[in-house]
This record gives sequence, structure tokens and C-alpha cells, in this order.
Amino acid sequence: MITFDFNNMLRPRLGGERGIDPARLDALSERFRDVHADVERRREAGEMGFFELPYGGELVEEIARFGEGPGQSFENIVVLGIGGSALGTIALRTALLDPFWNELESAERDFFPRLYVLDNIDPATFGTFLRRIDLRRTLFNVVSKSGGTAETMSQFMIVRQMLEAELGDGYRRHLLFTTDPESGVLRQLVREEQIAALPIPSNVGGRFSVLSAVGLLPAALVGIPIRELLDGAREMDERCRTADLRKNPAALFAALQWLADTDQDAPIHVMMPYVDRLRDLADWFRQLWAESLGKQRNRAGEEVFAGPTPVRALGATDQHSQVQLYVEGPFDKTICFLVEQNPEEDVQIPSLYGNVGELAYLGGHTLGELLRTEMEATAAALTRRGRMNMTIELPRVDARSIGELLHMLQVATVYAGALYGVDPLDQPGVELGKQLTYGIMGRPGFAEHRAEWERREPPRVEWTV
Ligand code: PA5
Repeated sequence: MITFDFNNMLRPRLGGERGIDPARLDALSERFRDVHADVERRREAGEMGFFELPYGGELVEEIARFGEGPGQSFENIVVLGIGGSALGTIALRTALLDPFWNELESAERDFFPRLYVLDNIDPATFGTFLRRIDLRRTLFNVVSKSGGTAETMSQFMIVRQMLEAELGDGYRRHLLFTTDPESGVLRQLVREEQIAALPIPSNVGGRFSVLSAVGLLPAALVGIPIRELLDGAREMDERCRTADLRKNPAALFAALQWLADTDQDAPIHVMMPYVDRLRDLADWFRQLWAESLGKQRNRAGEEVFAGPTPVRALGATDQHSQVQLYVEGPFDKTICFLVEQNPEEDVQIPSLYGNVGELAYLGGHTLGELLRTEMEATAAALTRRGRMNMTIELPRVDARSIGELLHMLQVATVYAGALYGVDPLDQPGVELGKQLTYGIMGRPGFAEHRAEWERREPPRVEWTV
């Protein structure tokens, strides 16, 4: 079971005026009961479908069967998707596969396929990738909830044409869509072209979809034990059913971050794993926290311009990049460390240079000891300087604890949404960008529309060099 140490967020540990006064947390307990009731009500009303994903069902069995059976006839799985349709899969891949998975020989991968996630449209990357991949041995999993995202649809059309050119009608066998069960262009193509598809429940949005077919299918295809992921998520879900703020880990996480922002002027929330395998989970969280909480209007429609700024860092690497700022810069941040209690692998540092003080102290220790000590020393330095920090400890980076952590952070996000008074499930700002892109690209006369758009934008000539 993962554990949470929030002590260094609180005033008694930080001293003086720094940190959150435990009395504020106590005062929030009553309000949290309302937050909890509101979230539970929206959950029961079916507005927050991600809560049901840990409970699996027939679709999970179907995914597992496909992953263990027909899915194994491919050497490469390529996910085409962006944002919430890609970041969860990347996080799972980094956390739960060998760090050099795609470079391993087939036998070293136990004959599971390689897994690529293409979540951008830079032609230099995409074009190079397509030149290198053997289409005949590749399954393209096109992931889009809406089925209309410009980046993913462009990738899909490029790939579909190449597949058809090489395989004729057989192109279908190399495509699998993960999309809304009813609506969107991808769903239409499923019907018209008989392409295989898995549903994303209508009430599950992109950034809350990692434990749906979006993340589970690629995970199952590369041998990640998806049932254990869900077991962990379920266990966390049960821990978060209590309305008692002090017993609910997601509630404490959300409440402390919200108080840090609104009471302590600390709107920058850094997530800093001291485990390479969790670096992309921090990236996934960055999107979840940012896109869910960054809102112009609250749920009553008033302008609030709310939202903390999540930042991803990595220990020990960023001790030599960011930590100077965190320890001595403005008091505008919280740092959340992620650590692993019992790493599977460790590497001994040999006892060389016993007479050289700068090296002698390292010899005889392990890299794991050094990494852990560095994390503890960084936490202690932050605490001494009055900087709020917390530690989430995973017993092991395995499917079960990753399921726990992912679910906890999703639940915390909807609690934080309620505390900020915003709807954590929508993303009107992203939609605006999508509409503007469509407005320029989607009408005849692309060049004229673009020129007209530039004319309408505020002038920027003087400040262009
Ligand atoms: O979290 C979200 O809703 C977004 O980040 C989406 O996942 C992203 O915009 C991609 O959308 P779609 O899955 O519809 O292609």
C-alpha cells in the first residue's frame, strides 16, 4: 500500500509563518464533507465515469484476451494519440516496462511487441518513424475520445494511406481504434470500414482515461498485468470513500495543495520523483492537474482565473538544475517527492580511492542508497528553509501501486476542482485552440484565411526582430 507523509507541508515542521496551519486543515474538514458529498453525487449520477474503471468488467477481460491472443501477432504496437489519449500510456510504459524495452531482442521481451507512442505531429519525428517501421508487423492503435482531434486524425490518415498502399484491403487488420462508443468520425469509420474498435465510456474524458481501454489495451499488449493495475486502483478507491479529510489520502493531497495555493501564495506544484520510472507519471499528472483546474470561470459562471501550475522535476538530476530555486527562491511552490521503498535493482559503488576524501565516502554504498539519501537531504533542506514538501512512497514500482497512485491523483483532482469551485472535467480553453485551428485549416483558401487571421490579430511588428 502506498503511504503519504504530509508533515513537511505543515507549520509545526516548517516554523514561523511558513506552511499550513493545522487549524486551517481542521477548519476545512467540515467543508470537505460537502466537497465529498458533491463528488459522490456526481459519481452516482454517472458524471465521473473514471470512478467505475477500477471495477473492470467484461471489457477488461476482452482486452486481456486480445492482448494475450491476436495482439501477439504484431512486433510493434504504435499508439497514435495526444494529451489524455497518450500520456497515461506513456506513464504506464515507463513505469512498468524495462527502461530499454524497445531496444531489447524479441526473446528478452518474452516475445511481447515493442510499444511506441507518437503524441506529436512534428514531421521530422513522424516521417522518420514511418520510414523505419515495418508496417506489415505493426498494429496502429488510434486513440481519440472525440474522434476528431486534428493531430491524431492527420496521423491516422497518413498511416491509413501507407497501409493500404502496402497491404491493400488488409490494411484494416493493422488498425484498432479506441474511441467514444457512439459518436465521432472514428466510430463512423468503424461502421463503414469494419475496423476493430474498443470503447471509451462516454462519461470518461481523456485525462481520466488511463484505466480505460485507452491505457489498458497497449498495456495488455506488452504484458503489463492490467488486472493488478485495477486491483491497486480499487484499493485506493476504497480508501477514498471516507468523508473524513484526515483519513482520505486524495483529500489530504488536494486540500494541502489548495491551501498552499490560496492561503500561502504557493500556486506552483512540483512533482519530483526520485525514480526514473516515474518521470512520465509526473508528466501525466502535470496534464491532469493543469487541464482540470486551470479555468477562467467557476461552476457558477463567474470569472476566477483559477488554477495552480504543475511542474515536473526529476531527482537526483534536477538537484543540479531546479533545487537551488526551490530551496532559496520565492516561497511559491510545493514539492511532492515520489519514492520507491524497495527497489528491485541496486548497483554497488566500489570502494576505490580510499584515500581521497571526496570519493572515499561513496565507496561501499549503493546507487540506491545515494539516491534515497539525496532525496531525504533535499527534503530536509527544503524543510529547514520553510518550503512546503510532501512524500509519497510506493512499496515497489509495480502494477498494483501504479494503479493506486494513478487513481489517487485522479480523485484528488476532482476534489481540488470542487475546492477551487471549477469543473475539473471540461477544457474550454483547449477547445478554443482546436476551433481556431479548424477555422484556419478547415476552409477553402487556407493561405488567404491565414493572412486574414494575422491581419485581425493585434499588431506585433515593432517587437519582432
Ligand atoms: O484530457 C483531455 O480531454 C484532452 O487532453 C484530450 O485527451 C486531448 O485533447 C485529445 O483528445 P481526443 O482524445 O478527443 O483526441
